[in-house]
Amino acid sequence: MTARLFASVGGALSLIAAGLGAVLALGTAPAGGATPTPAEIARGKYIFGATGGCGCHTEPGKPVKPPNSGGRKYEGPFGTVYATNITPDPKTGIGSWTDEQIIAAIRLGRRPNGERLVPVHPYTVFNGMAAEDLQALVAFMRTVPAVNRPNQPKKLLPLFESVFLPAWLAAFAPRETPPAKAPSEGVARGEYLVRAVGHCGECHTPRTRTQATDNSRFLAGNPTGPEGEAVPNITPDRETGIGKWTEEEIADYLASGNRPDGDVAGGLMGEVIEGTLAGYKDLTKADRFAIARYLKTIPPIKHTVESKKK
Ligand code: HEC
Repeated sequence: MTARLFASVGGALSLIAAGLGAVLALGTAPAGGATPTPAEIARGKYIFGATGGCGCHTEPGKPVKPPNSGGRKYEGPFGTVYATNITPDPKTGIGSWTDEQIIAAIRLGRRPNGERLVPVHPYTVFNGMAAEDLQALVAFMRTVPAVNRPNQPKKLLPLFESVFLPAWLAAFAPRETPPAKAPSEGVARGEYLVRAVGHCGECHTPRTRTQATDNSRFLAGNPTGPEGEAVPNITPDRETGIGKWTEEEIADYLASGNRPDGDVAGGLMGEVIEGTLAGYKDLTKADRFAIARYLKTIPPIKHTVESKKK
């Protein structure tokens, strides 16, 4: 994940930071309020899957580490960060945070102690998630087994967090406006799932030299995506994008990883489809078609991305 400094890493980071120490120091009380219903927890699990299973927070390998327990390493031009433990462990995870504090970390990139998360965690797009979805997501995250696993400190260039990051965020961070309610159907639903929850652009949109996503080329592919992986153009351009795929083919791919040419999704796309405790594959057919329909409406952009797939 070279160029994608923030994005890819972002996922990991955001909560990465979370684990660090602040948590404890503050000793905040766990969330109070009403106990979530099983329906709300199920809805939260669905949202968790629609993000790709928050996979950045689970360390791959054999065997994989427990879900959400952090430790996955992300290297970028500005240093190295490790995804944080986002299990409900009160000491090393986020179990002592209130719902509001967890939601602020997810969508604003702020830890309870005021510290800023490195935007490897995609808060600049999770910012566009509806409050009801975030609330359900947190209810589900609290049901995942707690794991005592201390976070590893990030190693960033000097002045990165104090000077560069605030300036970068002020200048470049896209600010999505959360809808009052999550759109429930049609192209609006697809747009919401792509832009906010599924954060497809964090991998599929090329980046400028400052590592901000170049939204004038939304989803046009990133030759140097997260973890150095080339990420294809998924705009409706017929030659260099997926303009020749039918809606059904796109919707099937999100469930199975099977491409129309018989190839199978690999790398990071394979990971977000499969997910951890849930992934894109668990999206309903209606939601997968909503995504496919929305992808047909965005501007086609000619941009060839060479696949480095082995
Ligand atoms: C973590 C990074 C990441 C995220 C997030 C992500 N993708 Fe992908 N995507 C990839 C990579 C890498 C590939 C190439 C996979 C391969 O080579 O098998 C890919 C491939 C695809 C393809 C196949 C394109 C082709 O030409 O083969 C489609 C369609 C696609 N993604 C759609 C989406 C949608 C829709 C979302 C959001 C709901 C999304 N992706 C989110 C990394 C990502």
